[in-house]
Amino acid sequence: MNTLTKLVLGAMGALRPLPAHGDATKTIQLPPPELSGGASLLEALAKRRSSREYRNDPLPLALLSNLLWAANGVNRSDGGRTAPSALNAQEIDIVVALPQGAYRFDAASHALELVCAKDLRRVTGYQDFVDEAPLDLVYLADHARMKRVPVAQRLSFASVAAGAIAQNVYLFAASAGLVTVIRAWIDREAIAHALGIPHDQEVLLSQTVGFGKG
Ligand SMILES: Cc1cc2nc3c(=O)[nH]c(=O)nc-3n(C[C@H](O)[C@H](O)[C@H](O)COP(=O)(O)O)c2cc1C
Repeated sequence: MNTLTKLVLGAMGALRPLPAHGDATKTIQLPPPELSGGASLLEALAKRRSSREYRNDPLPLALLSNLLWAANGVNRSDGGRTAPSALNAQEIDIVVALPQGAYRFDAASHALELVCAKDLRRVTGYQDFVDEAPLDLVYLADHARMKRVPVAQRLSFASVAAGAIAQNVYLFAASAGLVTVIRAWIDREAIAHALGIPHDQEVLLSQTVGFGKG
């Protein structure tokens, strides 16, 4: 769907997901992440950039597993994560919009839990490439987990935490031969509606990941 159509539908409050492509299993157990390989950190930093041209090839499950672990997986026995969060609130949920459904990444079990059995990709942003790319991530802030953060600072702290996750994804993508772009030009209400999220959760950003066309 082109950007203009999305803007019109968005203004009417009518930007909606497509039916799922294929069966959405309730839980997708991800294989354990591989913690070696890929380009070095400095090579990944040298390659980091935003890309807006994607092939529609799906990401193999092992690559998706590594990507989500790098994004915000558990990297310590005490439950610590690859991205920081204020007071260790761990308030950001990553929703993974796949053709067969939208899933919440559960870092503790390293699994995907079904949120919505629809193809939400086109709802995750106004730009047309988000519809066909194999994967769009949506970053949600859960205010219920930020009780110890002063109310006035919750949004900025959550945005910083989401930004750290987004940069992890950029660096993983650069290291693994994928491309990505973080996006704020999104219809937050349409995403919240499609996911049916409760009022204490807030849509912050989206990020597309996939194989580049070049
Ligand atoms: C908070 C934020 C929001 C952004 N929103 C969008 C967006 O909605 N769409 C998009 O194509 N790029 C978006 N970008 C990516 C920037 O356009 C991109 O980072 C910038 O042009 C620099 O290019 P580079 O990432 O290749 O260095 C966003 C970046 C940030 C940090």
